Amino acid sequence: MTDAAALPGWTLLYSGKVRDLYTSPEHPGEVLMVASDRVSAFDHVLEPGIPGKGELLTTLSRWWFAQLEVPNHLADDSTGIPEAIAARSMLAKTLDMYPVECVVRGYLSGSGWLEYQQTQSVCGIALPAGLADGDRLPEPIYTPAWKAPMGEHDENITFERTVELVGAEVASALRDTSLDIFTRASAIAESRGIILADTKFEFGADPVTGELTLADEVLTSDSSRFWDAAVYSTGDRTASFDKQIVRNWLKAHWDPSASSADATQPPALPQEIVEQTAARYRELIERLTGK
Ligand SMILES: Nc1ncnc2c1ncn2[C@@H]1O[C@H](COP(=O)(O)OP(=O)(O)OP(=O)(O)O)[C@@H](O)[C@H]1O
Ligand SMILES: [Mg+2]
Repeated sequence: MTDAAALPGWTLLYSGKVRDLYTSPEHPGEVLMVASDRVSAFDHVLEPGIPGKGELLTTLSRWWFAQLEVPNHLADDSTGIPEAIAARSMLAKTLDMYPVECVVRGYLSGSGWLEYQQTQSVCGIALPAGLADGDRLPEPIYTPAWKAPMGEHDENITFERTVELVGAEVASALRDTSLDIFTRASAIAESRGIILADTKFEFGADPVTGELTLADEVLTSDSSRFWDAAVYSTGDRTASFDKQIVRNWLKAHWDPSASSADATQPPALPQEIVEQTAARYRELIERLTGK
């Protein structure tokens, strides 16, 4: 079923890998972001989806927006959202988005760990020697990426490059606000036994006031790595609440560089992996929000 069919009065503006964006003449200056149950890994949308994922991640975004003391894009009045998709939708102010993915890392993991092993730095930021996969960094680092147009891969960039893209003042505000939010969110998560290892924010300018505004989804298990602090302290760095379960399974069962036709499309996720992932998403929300 396509959402478009279920949303009379709304026009599909854009379909991302995971979310669909709609506009309506009844809601000028606003965009309806509908999160699906689709899951992507290594830039592929996988089959099947994770039941309930769209709703869980939307619930989590909303909860974080309420914890954070920064202006966000949620519309003041969200009446008029179609009932059928309300639980997995956010009505947002349409912002003038900055083409920067504001990545903050508090721990060494994923692509950061790969890069560190080659260069002892991550995105040009020098780090101490002797760090291991999953280690906490001396302090959180800001490693922006350029948000590539649809279909292209995002590209890590230096802070200086963000200055060229958005100007010195905005570039500094993006960095400082991202680091502030990360620090606050990490403290909240830690008090609930959860480690926020890294995350990505997106911001835009309010078209009326020009105010820097937090947009997109925020601190979800699609945009962040969350780990279980109790398990982490035993030295096991694999107990994550994000789609690492999916990534790990895919890595073990799929070789995208193989020269067969299978290489272009990843294999279907087994039911067991789907269920484990859904359970982890639910557990993360329960642990964070207490609900
Ligand atoms: N308040 C907002 N106003 C305008 N655009 C927004 C707002 N919040 C988020 N966006 C944009 O909406 C889009 C959300 O789509 P989505 O995240 O599903 O796909 P994507 O990031 O373009 O691609 P991918 O499939 O790789 O995630 C992003 O392009 C994001 O920058
Ligand atoms: Mg996105």
